[in-house]
Amino acid sequence: MDEQTLPPNQKPRKRNPSAQPLPEDPLILGDALRVLKTLPPASVDLVFADPPYNLQLKNDLWRPNLTMVDRSAKEWDELGDFATYDEFTEAWLSALRPLMKRRSSLWVSGTYHNIFRIGRLLQDLGFWLLNTITWYKPNAMPNFSGTRLKNDVEFIIWAQKMERGSKTFRHHVAKQFNDFRPGKQLGSVWRIPACGGKERLKDAQGRKLHATQKPEELLTRIILSSSRRGDLVLDPFLGTGTTAVVAKRTHRRWLGIEKDPAYLAIAAKRIAGITPLLENHPLLHETRPPPRIPFPQLLEAGLLRAGQALFLDHPPHEATILPDGQLQVGDERGSIHQLGARLKGTPACNGWMHWRYLDPQGQWQKLDQLRRQLRREPRHRKPNP
Ligand SMILES: C[S@@+](CC[C@H](N)C(=O)[O-])C[C@H]1O[C@@H](n2cnc3c(N)ncnc32)[C@H](O)[C@@H]1O
Repeated sequence: MDEQTLPPNQKPRKRNPSAQPLPEDPLILGDALRVLKTLPPASVDLVFADPPYNLQLKNDLWRPNLTMVDRSAKEWDELGDFATYDEFTEAWLSALRPLMKRRSSLWVSGTYHNIFRIGRLLQDLGFWLLNTITWYKPNAMPNFSGTRLKNDVEFIIWAQKMERGSKTFRHHVAKQFNDFRPGKQLGSVWRIPACGGKERLKDAQGRKLHATQKPEELLTRIILSSSRRGDLVLDPFLGTGTTAVVAKRTHRRWLGIEKDPAYLAIAAKRIAGITPLLENHPLLHETRPPPRIPFPQLLEAGLLRAGQALFLDHPPHEATILPDGQLQVGDERGSIHQLGARLKGTPACNGWMHWRYLDPQGQWQKLDQLRRQLRREPRHRKPNP
């Protein structure tokens, strides 16, 4: 492959010198069943696998406007009967397992056609299931014949090797993807449109280059929430390279296997066009936000007391601290934020920045000073419930 397709950080971390090295080229043409057996054990930090679905489509599918629904997946998707599919699945999962580090994660994507079979095999092979993501596609194709519900979901099983509970999950990073309740814990229903628009790879005639190109948003969530910078991400069924594209963009290393040379070439070209995100990009923030301090905790810690005065900067107001941690100005009461907003006539107010207290040296200080002090001296802090 072209130089540019090599991950910038392909330098392996500390590794047993007697183990086989990782291949120099991170894009490997071949059958995953064979290639996986050639890779070094315990070398992979995260796996995303989007294996054939074995849809077993018997007839062509037509839209009401008499255009045919894309069937280009047919050649690589047909594996035969259920027993053959199970044999295939068991073989690749068994070959993959030793490559995973003890605490690494495996995400396997599928539809109702194959995901239940994969889930059972994962458990039989000793993987520990952590979650099943229901990926809801608001732009899914209708069921043209009207014989059943619109199939607008896919599933992704998230599993680990043996241990219970994920040691690689980055809960605070995942929160940023919560569209339903921003900033709160991310749930397992993800609303992400199926790949379309500029992101969808098409030929000069406007035909899709791959039938099942995954949206980058899906891989961004998976990679950022279950790996760290420099980690090695493996995709044994690379297709158009979506996993590698997101890995490169988010400063991870990658290894992709694909048996179709045309798809691998598409992936290589696509990866070469990716620039890693700038170091200070918000998506790359990995640190846990500082612990939340509710204002009444300052009273409990003895840093302020009920009856003490606080001053609002603009317009100037003097408030009294009540025993429950609320503030009072005349007949008005509220939290430092609510009362601050009301007095300022603004929709919101960060009370930590706008209320001031008199420090022992007679200086006016922002309340935020005391919040910082409490964070620095955790002995004052009450344990989180
Ligand atoms: C569901 S698609 C993956 C699509 C990919 N996630 C993307 O975003 O483009 C599965 C891919 O696996 C490849 N494939 C099927 N069987 C394979 C095998 N035994 N070894 C390697 N690749 C295989 C197919 O050619 C196909 O491109």
